[in-house]
Amino acid sequence: MNSQKLYQKAQAYLPGGVNSPVRAFRSVGGTPRFLIRGHGSHVTDADGQEYIDYVNSWGPLILGHAHLPVVRAIQQAAAAGTSFGAPNLLEIELAQRVAQAFPSMELMRFVNSGTEATMSALRLARGYTGRNRILKFDGAYHGHADALLAQAGSGLATFGLPASAGVPESVTQDTLIAPYNDLEAVATLFARLGESIAAVIVEPVAGNMGVVPPAEGFLPGLRQLTSQYGALLIFDEVITGFRLARGGAQELYGIFPDLTCLGKIVGGGLPVGAFGGRREIMELLAPLGPVYQAGTLSGNPLAMAAGMATLDALAQTPQAYSRLDELAAQLVGGWKAAAHDAGLPVTINRVGSMFTAFFTAGPVTDYASAKRSDTAVYARFFHAMLDRGIYLAPSQFEAAFLSLAHSTDDIDTTIVALQEALQSVVAAGGGTVDQGGSSQ
Ligand SMILES: Cc1ncc(COP(=O)(O)O)c(C=O)c1O
Repeated sequence: MNSQKLYQKAQAYLPGGVNSPVRAFRSVGGTPRFLIRGHGSHVTDADGQEYIDYVNSWGPLILGHAHLPVVRAIQQAAAAGTSFGAPNLLEIELAQRVAQAFPSMELMRFVNSGTEATMSALRLARGYTGRNRILKFDGAYHGHADALLAQAGSGLATFGLPASAGVPESVTQDTLIAPYNDLEAVATLFARLGESIAAVIVEPVAGNMGVVPPAEGFLPGLRQLTSQYGALLIFDEVITGFRLARGGAQELYGIFPDLTCLGKIVGGGLPVGAFGGRREIMELLAPLGPVYQAGTLSGNPLAMAAGMATLDALAQTPQAYSRLDELAAQLVGGWKAAAHDAGLPVTINRVGSMFTAFFTAGPVTDYASAKRSDTAVYARFFHAMLDRGIYLAPSQFEAAFLSLAHSTDDIDTTIVALQEALQSVVAAGGGTVDQGGSSQ
């Protein structure tokens, strides 16, 4: 059965044939590829086509697909029981590793997704402060909890809907929105409503409007304002945790939040999320306190084992983060040169092993500037790369991720594909050729 047939079959059971919207290729057109195998930096689809993978299951596979120690750890854990619904040793062992990497997480709780982590962190912030309002940034995505589906990026950004249907106005009316990197707008909101704001939730490096790094002073400013008004600062490190550094963005930028949300890498490809922070806040959680949160499969041994094996393999890989940085710099360098040669305006934002190439002259510093990207050109480019064996995110507003399984050969092959694909986009009349021939 090839992807086409599988997609038809899937649509008989699954809305749009998928279990998460962006996978349906709606913003790039064409048939989603059904992947049947992943190995290292490569994936294979149902048509037997092999690709160099830069989606990386949206971030968790920093070691690559089917990394043997991770697979073995899961098999070993499964042999002892897939779920107990009771305390188990592996929870403690993973928590120890997370606490070591994230000292600001004095206490933490494991959940099963990033969405659960952010939803629970917000409930805790509201419970701790006794306030209802939360502040998030335009184009940021923190999972699909109702209160956070207000001008969220990723999926919704791709479909351009301001908020999801089915979310009561009464739920999002307490969600304040400010442009990313606009500290003044945040300060204005705090000056007006500061006493009613429970928390600011921020992706310390945005990854769902495409990759947008924090501007100079943005994160320290959020730290200062939240402390000044008695609100909590929540770092959503679901993408950046263990991705940018072992201690995530808070290690990289030296700014420490009150609460941190993790996901993706901490589960090694299995469903794990976590939230944690200052002890006095976390002690409000049931069974210790009045803030209720629970999960049947939270802390299940397989997911804990996969997370542990991933964090241990990362710790045992010398220079893991500088190697990822070098590989990504090499790829982005080739990408910029290829775009320049093709005369296509492209702006590439990169932090460590996550980056986005926006089809716009740039700079891209927030959602509004990201949205200036030419998504029609991205769609053509996406398929030109797919046809050349390179699997990128089927949306302009997503991050690309490198893993430690990507080789310099993969990078060289990708750069050749880029040169051809960008030329083919121009030849097909796509993209406003930049007369100046410059690309940032
Ligand atoms: C920054 C961020 N927060 C939260 C989430 C939600 O995580 P999940 O899809 O595991 O529920 C995502 C998912 O991509 C994310 O990128």
